[in-house]
Amino acid sequence: MRAGRSAHAPARPPGTATLVLAGAARAVTAVLDEGLSADAALAAPLHEPQRAAINAVTLGTLRWYLRLAPAVLPLLARPGMQTDARLRSLLVCGAHQLEYSAHAPSTTVAAAVDAARYLGLDRAAGLVNAVLRRFLRERDTLLAAVDRNLAARHAHPDWLVEALRAAWPDELESILAANNTHPPLCLRVDTSRISIADYLQELAANGTPGEAVPAVATALTLAVPVPVALLPGFEAGRVSVQDPSAQLAALWLAPRPGERVLDACAAPGGKTGALLEAAGGPIALTALDSDAERLTRVADNLRRLGREARLVHAGLGAAPDWWDGVPFDAILLDAPCSGTGVIRRHPDIKLLRRPGDIAEFAARQGALLRACWPLLRPGGRLLYATCSVLPAENAAVVAGLLTAQPDARELPPPGGVPDATLRPCFPGWQRLPGAAGDGFYYACLTKEEGALQR
Ligand SMILES: C[S@@+](CC[C@H](N)C(=O)[O-])C[C@H]1O[C@@H](n2cnc3c(N)ncnc32)[C@H](O)[C@@H]1O
Repeated sequence: MRAGRSAHAPARPPGTATLVLAGAARAVTAVLDEGLSADAALAAPLHEPQRAAINAVTLGTLRWYLRLAPAVLPLLARPGMQTDARLRSLLVCGAHQLEYSAHAPSTTVAAAVDAARYLGLDRAAGLVNAVLRRFLRERDTLLAAVDRNLAARHAHPDWLVEALRAAWPDELESILAANNTHPPLCLRVDTSRISIADYLQELAANGTPGEAVPAVATALTLAVPVPVALLPGFEAGRVSVQDPSAQLAALWLAPRPGERVLDACAAPGGKTGALLEAAGGPIALTALDSDAERLTRVADNLRRLGREARLVHAGLGAAPDWWDGVPFDAILLDAPCSGTGVIRRHPDIKLLRRPGDIAEFAARQGALLRACWPLLRPGGRLLYATCSVLPAENAAVVAGLLTAQPDARELPPPGGVPDATLRPCFPGWQRLPGAAGDGFYYACLTKEEGALQR
């Protein structure tokens, strides 16, 4: 990272807290002003020793931005005042540290003042000091005023709260609260190689205890997150990082040995690996994605897992030239979506999505589902899944296919009996974000044999 220090900056080297706040302010600005995802913003070169702390402050600030910004930014206001985007981000990062961290307030304010200088905002250093000190003095009153509004209290945009209210009126507050929690680190165990019980024992012996996740036979949660390199057998592919709700997709489609299976939106390959492991024997898996760069990550994942699939770089659509014309026994369509079920893992979604995005996603999802249908054999299974909790991207898309294709019929969940984490959506089933995992939607369809195809 370049220092960006001006001639008037203090001679002493910046401390850790200063570097963390400056790094987080840059990343938050990249999300808010350039529309980058938090992952992309945090992929920029950062001070290595501070990387974990910069990640934590950035994600925390993005998580609470829509509550903190209306409390702290009005304190800047002077008629006609133009403020630098990095200054606004720095103030909200500072307010986040004052409100949600255990650091001494005076240390945070001093670090924010130094961070302003470090970012080349020397003339704003006094302002940062004044605004954050006033926020400290008045924060109870300032936040109480913000918290009168439900959306601001939970740091969500109004339009999303209204969409969630319309879809899940009884669960609204629990969804909003779950979206602001720190998600646990969850693992998928390749149970064809080691049982969950045996892997839990290895974890305990390794000093990284975990526990099995009910209703998802391959999943466990770690008590405390650790770097993957410290997980026994990670490099050898015995375990992968994956939320239980994402794992459920492969268990639901339940590929069987010998089947021809299509993973239709495969990258970066989390569910590709899960499908190969769930089959319990060899399957002919085609993993397709329209994004060449992301497809390389599927290859990396498969290499680590020691598994094989045919990788295809192509967009799903009419007249697929990558297809030999032999229909698939099973298809997973894990469609691109708003990600409104995984906000706890990606808080930037609250700031990046716009209300109009939902209809655009729905139109794309409908087209992808229609493109998959001719590829499925009569009697085969197609699982449509998203990590959205909005019906427009889920039940409405599947209902559209069921209406358009008289040979399409919905299948019940695996085992026929839905577990308590699944809510019926007619068609399909929804998991809401919470203790059981991320928010995910699933609808399993079959093509009736002998029916007329359109
Ligand atoms: C939700 S992600 C898939 C995640 C993946 N299944 C996993 O578990 O790791 C959706 C993917 O759909 C891909 N995609 C979007 N439009 C597509 C299209 N027309 N054809 C094929 N893939 C597409 C995107 O590149 C993205 O990788």
